[in-house]
Amino acid sequence: MRLKGKVAIITGAGMGMGREASVLFAQEGAKVIVFDLNEQAAKETVAEIEKNGGEALAFVGNVAKEADVKAAVEAGVARFGKLDILYANAGVLWKDRDKSVVETTEENWDIVQAINLKGPFFLTKHGIPELQKAGGGSIILVGSISALAGFTLAQDSYTCAKGALISLNKSLAVQFGGDQIRCNVIHPGMIDTPLQAPYLTPEKKKAIGDSLPMKRLGVARDIANAALFLASDESAWMTGAEMIVDGGFIAC
Ligand SMILES: NC(=O)c1ccc[n+]([C@@H]2O[C@H](COP(=O)([O-])OP(=O)(O)OC[C@H]3O[C@@H](n4cnc5c(N)ncnc54)[C@H](O)[C@@H]3O)[C@@H](O)[C@H]2O)c1
Repeated sequence: MRLKGKVAIITGAGMGMGREASVLFAQEGAKVIVFDLNEQAAKETVAEIEKNGGEALAFVGNVAKEADVKAAVEAGVARFGKLDILYANAGVLWKDRDKSVVETTEENWDIVQAINLKGPFFLTKHGIPELQKAGGGSIILVGSISALAGFTLAQDSYTCAKGALISLNKSLAVQFGGDQIRCNVIHPGMIDTPLQAPYLTPEKKKAIGDSLPMKRLGVARDIANAALFLASDESAWMTGAEMIVDGGFIAC
């Protein structure tokens, strides 16, 4: 029960790492606001939490819309009384539309920024005042190894949005440390989730896994475990930090 008594909002919680973290956080005692664009997926996550005896609220919305994020924070506080953990997990990787700067349209650049960068902006904008009221809390941002290294097959808007979160992380850590609000980034390596599914054949998965020091792709639980540590009081003196969880990709 490492999150006993805490309330968490997790965006993109209908699938992949967000769902895994929602289920794990609830198992560890947190009440969870499951925020997702996909109503059915959000409801499935909530059903899984409730099946295990936990408490969760499904909220259907788009992280790129400020009104949706504000309403989700308000609905979560109305239901559970407070907010302790903001987990800005929702993100999109659209390799068909977001490529190198020389190939990407302005429209596609903007929509990727709106989801991957403005989403965390809106969540922290509306969530931080609630953490202040609660006497502190933990913010988890989700970067990527693509913000730490260049790739020949570029997704430049995605990469820039994830890179910007490194700067936002430091700024929030410094601004709100005095309120006992911590902010940290997780940089996942390649994780086998629905986000990667359109781009990964079984052969590709094996080849990428074999190329990593740990000899496998990541799974959603690898990241959810890191997030659980950052959400819990075990990381009480950790802020402004970046946690690379990538099977050793960046090390080689
Ligand atoms: N999977 C990877 O290899 C990988 C690597 C590095 C970073 N990441 C990052 O990790 C995070 C989670 O990725 P994942 O692989 O679990 O993704 P996923 O696609 O498996 O799940 C993402 C969830 O977010 C929801 N979502 C998408 N757009 C949304 C929006 N505008 N508003 C609300 N919800 C929205 C989707 O409906 C889905 O349920 C993302 O920020 C992603 O960029 C993923």
